[in-house]
Amino acid sequence: MALLFSSKNDDPERWRDVLAQELPDLDFRIWTPGGENIGDPADIEFALVWGPKKGALKAFPNLKAILSLGAGVDHLDGKDLPEGIPVARLVDPGLTRGMREYVIYWTIHYHRRFGEYAAATAAKTWQQLPQADTCNRRVGIMGLGMLGADAAMHLTALQFDVAGWSRSPKTIPGVTCYNGDDGLADFLGHTEILVCLLPLTPETTGIINTKTLAQLPEGAAIINAARGPHVVDDDLIQALDSGHIQGATLDVFHIEPLPSDHAFWDHPKINLTPHAASITTPETAVLPVAQNIRRVLAGQTPEPLVDMDAGY
Ligand code: NAP
Ligand code: GLV
Repeated sequence: MALLFSSKNDDPERWRDVLAQELPDLDFRIWTPGGENIGDPADIEFALVWGPKKGALKAFPNLKAILSLGAGVDHLDGKDLPEGIPVARLVDPGLTRGMREYVIYWTIHYHRRFGEYAAATAAKTWQQLPQADTCNRRVGIMGLGMLGADAAMHLTALQFDVAGWSRSPKTIPGVTCYNGDDGLADFLGHTEILVCLLPLTPETTGIINTKTLAQLPEGAAIINAARGPHVVDDDLIQALDSGHIQGATLDVFHIEPLPSDHAFWDHPKINLTPHAASITTPETAVLPVAQNIRRVLAGQTPEPLVDMDAGY
């Protein structure tokens, strides 16, 4: 039983070690650009990947499952994958906890006006600002999947007034749920701090744009921890410069690393992190990956299965 590992972002040696502990019989092979050293392609039954080379996975006639090294699968293009092979996203409690921390940290940053206190500190100004109650702070999460629903529930536990928006209808205790195109304007109108945790699909690309930003109340803040192309960069800059949007925290960008001449770097109302909202950690992610390998070997499908037509 052999697994092909292919990623420019993830450490193969760490993955080799943790997988060896869970699945001692697994033959771990690391992709090399020329395809050398991976041995007989017929041996490969599993591919654990982030952004594999276009078409490369079609070379393995006995592939049983493609396992994503991340929660998002926009690094995989359906056209480049072998037909009929199940693809699973990563759902890892460690990844979920990391995203929860990121969302709570930045939500509280805007809620408690800590950016304004940092600026006042830099100017040696002593001034208390009015303190709002979480109960009166409306936070809206776009995407109520594994990460969005978790963040929504934990913000609710902090007694924020939380709403969420998804494709299909949802019921989450304490969260006002909107769905579909028809629910978007009402959801945005309700939202003072907007958190994007959508997958990147043709429907969600460019969803944070002039029109949707204008539907947020004056002074709203944006936290994008999903994918860069969810945001139309120039539209966001315009909304920040006009003052309609008070600030944005961006973890993800159209091009990563963010080019050094991009306007986001120097914008006074933007906080940046380098695609680090929640990083896949082999020590926790190995459990769901190993479980999926065992499931497939037992004749079951890996979970959660990606609908490549829907794009997530
Ligand atoms: P998920 O479980 O697949 O959830 C996706 C959610 O988005 C679902 O609620 C889905 O609605 C909703 N959605 C999809 N298309 C939609 C549309 N057209 N309109 C409205 N809602 C739509 O995904 P996840 O595990 O929570 O991860 C979300 C994303 O976070 C990933 O795709 C990835 O891009 C990003 N991420 C970023 C980092 C980072 O470090 N920055 C780390 C991990 C993940 P339904 O429930 O109705 O299907
Ligand atoms: C990270 O961006 C992921 O999709 O897990």
